[in-house]
Amino acid sequence: MSLLELQHISYRYPLTPELTVKDLSLKVEPGEVLGIVGGNGSGKTTICNIMRGFIPSFYKGELEGKVVFEEQPLDTSNLGSLAQKIGYAFQNPFTQITGVKYSVYDEIGYGLENLSVPREEANNKIEQVIELLNLQKIRNQNPYDLSGGQKQMVALASVIVLDPELIILDEPTSQLDPSSTLAVYDIVKNLKEQGKTIIIVDHKVDLLAQICDEIAVIQDGQLALKGETHHVFSDKKVIEAGGQLPEVSDFYLQVHPEAKKVPVTIDEAYKMLKEAKV
Ligand SMILES: Nc1ncnc2c1ncn2[C@@H]1O[C@H](COP(=O)(O)OP(=O)(O)O)[C@@H](O)[C@H]1O
Ligand SMILES: [Mg+2]
Repeated sequence: MSLLELQHISYRYPLTPELTVKDLSLKVEPGEVLGIVGGNGSGKTTICNIMRGFIPSFYKGELEGKVVFEEQPLDTSNLGSLAQKIGYAFQNPFTQITGVKYSVYDEIGYGLENLSVPREEANNKIEQVIELLNLQKIRNQNPYDLSGGQKQMVALASVIVLDPELIILDEPTSQLDPSSTLAVYDIVKNLKEQGKTIIIVDHKVDLLAQICDEIAVIQDGQLALKGETHHVFSDKKVIEAGGQLPEVSDFYLQVHPEAKKVPVTIDEAYKMLKEAKV
């Protein structure tokens, strides 16, 4: 049973002549981590908004096809309660800050408050997420005074605290320095171990290769490639489709263009070299 299924989705934004998403079908299994890659403007954020019901409810436009979540057509009649099941961290963290809370602590608790979670339970959850994301130092700061990277971490905290079934992360590390980026990927690993289903849009394919079960490549609103991470990242078509290969796969394919088994992470390359006694 898939957790989420897009069936023949096509979508046109209002007042736009062309389709932004074209006959796109894909399935996301429970507990899976799916990486989505593709060039800028290929439709990744639009697809995320379709998956979480904001298209068409909020953006309007014309949507064809079906979004099935937990074996039911996605119920977009109450986007607030849907956010508890499908968490979404925006590509741009500046638009995610609520603007009505004066501390990071209250900002993270905003969604819980909206869902009328009892105060004590909410406090426990907020404390846990602050610990997990290492936000102790900024817990009392005003969200507006944070750096882009800190805002992005708070946005992620606001999603995780609701403990949704499906977590959609749209370029969650775009504002982050390398060490915070690795911290986010560690958190994703941790969520994966807890059995969460995660969709992560990112250009950082070397990191995606380490955590994703499957990779989807979006090109011009269509699904160009999708499959098991090794399979997709062994295929040069990813580059033709506007994506990138992990550096180590790219290098390996240059040395062995006909290779059947391509390493996608440094660890794998190391093991293969060791076994080959090179
Ligand atoms: N609100 C909107 N109205 C009209 N067109 C939009 C809107 N948002 C995005 N688009 C267009 O849809 C296409 C896909 O955008 P987007 O989904 O943001 O791509 P990506 O996330 O892959 O960079 C782009 O051509 C973009 O200009
Ligand atoms: Mg985007």
